[in-house]
Amino acid sequence: MTGPVLVTGATGNVGGAVARSLRAAGVALRVAGTDVRELRERFPGVPAAHLDFGDARTFDAALDGVAALFLLRPPQIARVGPTLNALVDRAARHDVRHVVFASVTGAERNPVVPHHRVERHLRASGLPSTVLRPGFFAQNLADAYRRDIREDHRIYLPAGSGRVAFVDTRDVGDVAAAVLADPAAHRGAAYTLTGPQALDFAEVAALLTETLGRPIRYQAATVGGYLRHLRRRRVPATQAVVQTVLHTGLRRGQAEQVDPALSLLLGRPGRTLRDYVTEHVDRWRWTDGPPPQKVEG
Ligand SMILES: NC(=O)c1ccc[n+]([C@@H]2O[C@H](COP(=O)([O-])OP(=O)(O)OC[C@H]3O[C@@H](n4cnc5c(N)ncnc54)[C@H](OP(=O)(O)O)[C@@H]3O)[C@@H](O)[C@H]2O)c1
Repeated sequence: MTGPVLVTGATGNVGGAVARSLRAAGVALRVAGTDVRELRERFPGVPAAHLDFGDARTFDAALDGVAALFLLRPPQIARVGPTLNALVDRAARHDVRHVVFASVTGAERNPVVPHHRVERHLRASGLPSTVLRPGFFAQNLADAYRRDIREDHRIYLPAGSGRVAFVDTRDVGDVAAAVLADPAAHRGAAYTLTGPQALDFAEVAALLTETLGRPIRYQAATVGGYLRHLRRRRVPATQAVVQTVLHTGLRRGQAEQVDPALSLLLGRPGRTLRDYVTEHVDRWRWTDGPPPQKVEG
């Protein structure tokens, strides 16, 4: 490919991993997002473009001379028509030759999730593309669940005893880089990406207990209890509902299936949750202020 890969969401979990994997593979890239200063800090020496999905005037400069696009839907964006799909249309006019879209497991059969509409639009656009459908991220432990683990010594979710085949976003980045290294081989393909094993949250808590050297327990939340918990944490209402619905789905085994695609694409097993926790142990250590109080109930 001549021309760089434009990586959207590059300051986030997945886009950041994609950018690092492309850089490690020696692929030319341009990182994109709303905060160019942050992009330059994170990726010194990598060209950075201001791209705001909410402002189509930023699209042309970001896409100029680009050979391929890595497309990520920021969690805050539900209306994909004037944002992500508009960028896809603009990419077609810029002669972008391949799009890799980071979707979500099951999006092909779930019209409620915004990713479904992006997948459909991408197919209709005629642009050569590949869809990656990852399952639950290992990184949620240091993101959405971090405060509960660090301050309350617990994982508190309405997931019952559902099991989750956590995928590490670093592996999603490696898959995106592998696809972009040989886009023709993956044209029109969609891959479900999971980790190598499914764990329930009691097992995740035991893993954290062992690695952190202090007890972390899993407390199964009710739907109402979890919603109230998220609102107390000042999670915006819509996001709280989505997060609750997603985790309630885990009770029915929605994310327990291990898919071989990731290891076949990478030629190695995916990273385990143990790998992730061991390598990021500082994320749950309490380092400042008085030690956190244990909460009951
Ligand atoms: N969490 C999971 O377990 C899971 C599993 C499967 C799929 N997913 C999907 O993965 C995606 C989330 O990925 P993530 O965790 O990497 O997200 P993230 O860490 O929250 O990153 C979001 C990125 O989007 C950028 N962004 C936000 N608003 C923007 C705008 N208006 N224009 C351009 N860029 C904007 C942010 O950068 P700036 O604000 O600096 O621009 C940031 O780089 C979602 O689509 C989610 O549904 C999540």
